[in-house]
Amino acid sequence: MKKILITGGAGFIGSHVVRRFVKNYANYHIFNLDALTYAGNLENIADIEKSSNYTFIKGDIVNADFINQLFEKHQFDGVIHLAAESHVDRSITDPLAFVKTNVIGTMNLLNAAKTIWTNDANDKRFYHVSTDEVYGSLGATGLFTETTPYDPNSPYSASKASSDHFVRAYGETYGLPYVITNCSNNYGPNHFPEKLIPLFINNIINNKALPVYGDGKYTRDWLYVIDHAIAIDLVFHNGKNHETYNIGGFNEWQNIDLVRLLCRQMDGKLGREAGESEKLITHVKDRPGHDLRYAIDASKINKELGWKPSVTFEEGLNQTIDWFLANEEWLKNVTSGEYSKYYEKQYS
Ligand code: NAD
Ligand code: DAU
Repeated sequence: MKKILITGGAGFIGSHVVRRFVKNYANYHIFNLDALTYAGNLENIADIEKSSNYTFIKGDIVNADFINQLFEKHQFDGVIHLAAESHVDRSITDPLAFVKTNVIGTMNLLNAAKTIWTNDANDKRFYHVSTDEVYGSLGATGLFTETTPYDPNSPYSASKASSDHFVRAYGETYGLPYVITNCSNNYGPNHFPEKLIPLFINNIINNKALPVYGDGKYTRDWLYVIDHAIAIDLVFHNGKNHETYNIGGFNEWQNIDLVRLLCRQMDGKLGREAGESEKLITHVKDRPGHDLRYAIDASKINKELGWKPSVTFEEGLNQTIDWFLANEEWLKNVTSGEYSKYYEKQYS
């Protein structure tokens, strides 16, 4: 049985990846390593926690001794690395936290993998899950391809760019077998309500203001999180060694148009009069260094691995809203910090 380490598996995207791998691959034992920061929530994966091919490990990737011992003990065959500080606004107020987890944490994993994979590295794989934000900002036209030069603008994207460079450098210098994917904005169930879509769903439910940064003309390319998990599965198994793949939704929206669509859908679902939720829109001070537009050219992963999004944005957004409305308890718990009680009950 192969041993696969997934980091950050209690977070938003990681929980969908862990679930997919635990359910689909009985020949793997999945180790989910997560520090359970504010963004990590074991409730996200409560449905698979008793699976016989699954083990949760609470731990911090910044602790090199701990990581080395973990790799020495389990001799992992593959690593899918998602653990990160992931929110741009937080990186503006506390950049060092992003350097610690995203850069030093990734370095610790690379060093540990390099140490245990010296002899038979060909059947091993280090998969770094990264972001399209490393490419900086697009103007009104054009798309990010795998050869677009890195040009990060926020402390978050600078830390992810740095970790991508280290992964690639370990491949070139030490022959570490790696793949990297750079993905656009995800949305879906279990999305932490500090990011645009879940924050605004939560605020609409509670009749709170919807803080649109600046004029709202910023553009993002949205992808349903389960389609990202499917892409990660494909790249982990079939991607070429030492390659990068862009993943995106072919789905660009200006923030203000997306927020209006969300308001319309929420009005319908909450039985409110048309236009009621839109009244909550408030234009607030812009995010410093705000990237104007992200848009991914995902033709490489499409041509080489046959991947494309499986749900339309309308379906994905509809399912996402339904999930949040059906899981108001989850939403209440994560906004009140109640979820840490779940962890204390289970793992202390
Ligand atoms: P998230 O913030 O929801 O989850 C991050 C997880 O990592 C949490 O469970 C947290 O507890 C864990 N973690 C944080 N610091 C840790 C540490 N020091 N040691 C161990 N675990 C730690 O993030 P997400 O949105 O699910 O993003 C996952 C990955 O995907 C990140 O690497 C992010 O850069 C990347 N990504 C995200 C998006 C997106 O739209 N959310 C898009 C492209 C790429
Ligand atoms: O592109 C991939 C990236 O997408 C990931 O790497 C990041 O981890 C993820 O957080 C996301 O980054 P963004 O900064 O694009 O996502 P966020 O949801 O924070 O913001 C989306 C857009 O909405 C952005 O233009 C800022 C704007 N926004 C956001 C918030 C939270 C608002 O106008 N108001 C808000 O309150």
